[in-house]
Amino acid sequence: MERVQVTPRSYPTNLIDKDWSNRKLFFRKNSDDFLNLVHDMKLRDDDVWIVTLPKCGTTWMQELLWLLLNNLDFDEALAKDQEIRSPFLEFDILVNEDLERSLRPVEELKSPRLIKSHLSLALLPSQLWQRKNKVIYVFRNPLDSIVSRYYHGVSFGIHYGKSLHQYFDEILANEDFAAEIIEHAYEFYQLRNEPWVYYTSFERMKKDLRGVINDVSIFLDKPINEEPIMERLLKHLSFEEMKKNPTTNHLWERAQIKHKNAGKEIHPFVRRGEVNGYKDELKPEQIEKANACIKKILDNNSVTMEELLLLNNP
Ligand code: A3P
Repeated sequence: MERVQVTPRSYPTNLIDKDWSNRKLFFRKNSDDFLNLVHDMKLRDDDVWIVTLPKCGTTWMQELLWLLLNNLDFDEALAKDQEIRSPFLEFDILVNEDLERSLRPVEELKSPRLIKSHLSLALLPSQLWQRKNKVIYVFRNPLDSIVSRYYHGVSFGIHYGKSLHQYFDEILANEDFAAEIIEHAYEFYQLRNEPWVYYTSFERMKKDLRGVINDVSIFLDKPINEEPIMERLLKHLSFEEMKKNPTTNHLWERAQIKHKNAGKEIHPFVRRGEVNGYKDELKPEQIEKANACIKKILDNNSVTMEELLLLNNP
């Protein structure tokens, strides 16, 4: 899939005051019509958005959000694939390349809609920045998310036959890789105190899932007041349960993929689920080079990785 620089029709200048003309944004080649459709998308007042970069714990958070928004209907959650309950906005256009039907899964969803997207703030619907629908953003250490993305890509056929080290070297060869990741997260980090934004990290979810569940439930006005319900949520969202749950392992999604190498080597979607797992998967020199590129962008934005990952939060 060839990715190119794209320019949205307008920018969220009401939210973040910066020189947006310098913000490099990327999406699949020949997707202007799709991006315009998204830009002009009509939102409903009770729409909730989960926005992340790929492999940052989206599915994990999405499962929690869906349950909170749907009266903790565990039976439905265990019966229906997550992608059907909560569609991924860009999925259809990326897989089927059919503009006509691209937004249909979201349009046909009953309220309250929980919509997943990996788009940057400026590429999300303009109504979202104006009407300020609730957004939950999850960040993760980029090295862990890139390793995770590799295994995901192998299962989906895109990286089949390529080693993790080869894949990572290709990422490093892209001079925009660090900026794409850090700026995506930093924009939402800057909005983290807005009443309509809840910003967190995979690392924080690993450290204190109960705390995150509490925070998110209050953020969505669906507080969890009973300990047995909290216990049930913690169990349903545990790595072990999510790993064996067919509805949270993107089986429906995998079945849609048409790549000739799809399914030749399969890695479970809920795979390793660790913080800093990259340390025993990447070469030391790759880690050093990636961290140097990332640090440059962090410094330009006057923010640290600890801040973006909320590592210093109590
Ligand atoms: P790994 O490949 O590092 O294991 P996303 O949903 O954004 O694509 O993120 C997928 C990553 O989240 C995978 O990371 C997956 O294992 C991890 N994950 C999903 N559910 C999890 C859970 N309950 N606990 C810990 N990690 C989880």
